[in-house]
Amino acid sequence: MWPLLLVPFLLAAAAHASAAEPPAAAMAPWPEQYHALVVSNLTARGGRLQVIDIYYDWPRGRDLNLVRLQLPDAGEPPLRNVEWANGTSYLFDATSCQTYHFDVGLLPPDWKKAGDAAYLGRARVDGFDCYVWSNFLFARYYEDVATGRPVAWNFGMDERHVLSFEPGGVLEDSSMWQAPAYCFDGSNGGDAAGGVGGQGSRDDLVNSMIGFAGAPAAAASFEQDAAACDEL
Ligand SMILES: *[C@@H]1O[C@H](CO)[C@@H](O)[C@H](O)[C@H]1NC(C)=O
Ligand SMILES: *[C@@H]1O[C@H](CO)[C@@H](O)[C@H](O)[C@H]1NC(C)=O
Repeated sequence: MWPLLLVPFLLAAAAHASAAEPPAAAMAPWPEQYHALVVSNLTARGGRLQVIDIYYDWPRGRDLNLVRLQLPDAGEPPLRNVEWANGTSYLFDATSCQTYHFDVGLLPPDWKKAGDAAYLGRARVDGFDCYVWSNFLFARYYEDVATGRPVAWNFGMDERHVLSFEPGGVLEDSSMWQAPAYCFDGSNGGDAAGGVGGQGSRDDLVNSMIGFAGAPAAAASFEQDAAACDEL
């Protein structure tokens, strides 16, 4: 008998956890600038493992993702995704570029205070005891209780695990932030904003990263996922 009784109890406990007030430590904002190294596994969607250097720079209104593939083929340099606070985002490699627009721009360091951010309690992830959040961007965001460092997050199907986190880490090299000319002259698929009404969604971006990563044949099967995850 007891397992039957246990189920409603667990459901009640889960409902209670999701309504919990976040502890003050869980509300701590991100550093205004940081460098994180994350690993992402897109193999289930026809992509590859990726190692991504993220440079978040709120004072300068920008964020860079430098994406390296596992075992790239010759001539496959890293992808770059430069996101600006005004919502414009450039995803490019050595020959192609796509431009997106996200109405929201950059996530502010205190995004947990925004109306859509929900504190979901605690969970153990990658061996760390974590505070769990979600918002319009993160289906789940996990932050180490002991140190406040991010441990992992996912946007729908794209799950990222943080290998290192360096508060104050800044990338000064302006050439790394500059989108190439072919993002602006329309010669190479520039301005190919996807999504409804020309707005990019996070899934468009993830799918593009996979597409750029050399798995165009898999692209068709993503459309279902993209529809399912449209709200993320
Ligand atoms: C990547 O994801 C696939 C499919 O979910 C899984 O089988 C594989 O073990 C994962 N690889 C790593 C390194 O996490
Ligand atoms: C947003 O800022 C970037 C970088 O300065 C610029 O390239 C882009 O054109 C701007 N987008 C809009 C819509 O003004």
